[in-house]
Amino acid sequence: MTYPIRQTARTNGTIADLRSDTVTRPDAAMRAAMAAAEVGDDVYGEDPTIAALEERVAGTLGKAAAVMFPTATQSNLAALLSHCARGEEVLTGHDYHVRKYEAGGGSVLGGLVFHDLSVRPDGGLSATDVAAAVKEDDSHFAVTRLLVLENTHNGRAVPLDTQGAALAAARDAGLSTHLDGSRLFNAAEALGVPPARVAEGFDTVTICLSKGLGGPAGAVLSGPADLVSKARRWRKMLGGGMRQAGVIAAAGLHALDHNLAGLASDRARAERLRAALRALPWAEVEDGESNMVWLALRDPSHADALAAHLADAGITVSPGAKMRLVLHRDVDDAALDAVVAAFEGFAP
Ligand SMILES: Cc1ncc(COP(=O)(O)O)c(C=O)c1O
Repeated sequence: MTYPIRQTARTNGTIADLRSDTVTRPDAAMRAAMAAAEVGDDVYGEDPTIAALEERVAGTLGKAAAVMFPTATQSNLAALLSHCARGEEVLTGHDYHVRKYEAGGGSVLGGLVFHDLSVRPDGGLSATDVAAAVKEDDSHFAVTRLLVLENTHNGRAVPLDTQGAALAAARDAGLSTHLDGSRLFNAAEALGVPPARVAEGFDTVTICLSKGLGGPAGAVLSGPADLVSKARRWRKMLGGGMRQAGVIAAAGLHALDHNLAGLASDRARAERLRAALRALPWAEVEDGESNMVWLALRDPSHADALAAHLADAGITVSPGAKMRLVLHRDVDDAALDAVVAAFEGFAP
């Protein structure tokens, strides 16, 4: 059987889609791995490829067990529900994904209270803020149960000493801990440490297969066996128990075998783009360590004109006065050349 050559964004007339790394498409080799996957009914625990992926991720992150989910959103939600009872409180960053971009699932389905903390410039939370947010045992207060961190956050690889200090504050207060590590492998690559080091100290960790790793779907929650088993039941309740989903797990295993190395290229391309954009008089560019570039227009009224100019050049962005540009597997060096040229050609 033959498979189409790797589809890039060019196949639909676009040179580079910089909105997110979620737009990456499975390449021919990944599709071949998916087609060849041995599968079974995973709700009966009979899909060997899913079992292999779960074991692989648990081992890679230094955790006892793992369970595959369709999405990182569902993995994070199942983690919240596994750690907390109704009415309990979660401490997290005010614009962390679990707080702001997951439709309030923890509150709607788990009856959880979120206490937002401000996010440091390095993407982490302050240990002092964590300690101060833990409520005393008083019937006026919700019981503080869980700290959720995120790494990477907005493309910042949160330094391990920042992360470790917040974790220690949570541990001292008797809280459980969860990491939204949807881009944990980007963080590990940028920080130059093994993935298990980023996951160290957390009870549970979500990783996503469908962002920079290039899988079509899938996330994995890892942690101690009892919590993972609770999360497996929550997955069933949330409608996420899938049957012959070994095809998704095969994509994940393929990504872990073949696509991790590409994350360094994504970071290098982001650095190159940052350097090129810094030369533009009309833009300000933030620092960053990973695959995301943040650009702010000095005059916000030019936002629509810039997005239109880029669209004419075949470059898709989320328009705005502050723009997030995400590098990923489907933006190669030639596409990046075109991106740089398009930005340089904009005359506000
Ligand atoms: C940091 C972070 N966590 C979780 C998610 C949720 O992933 P999904 O939308 O695939 O469920 C995203 C999605 O972009 C994310 O950026």
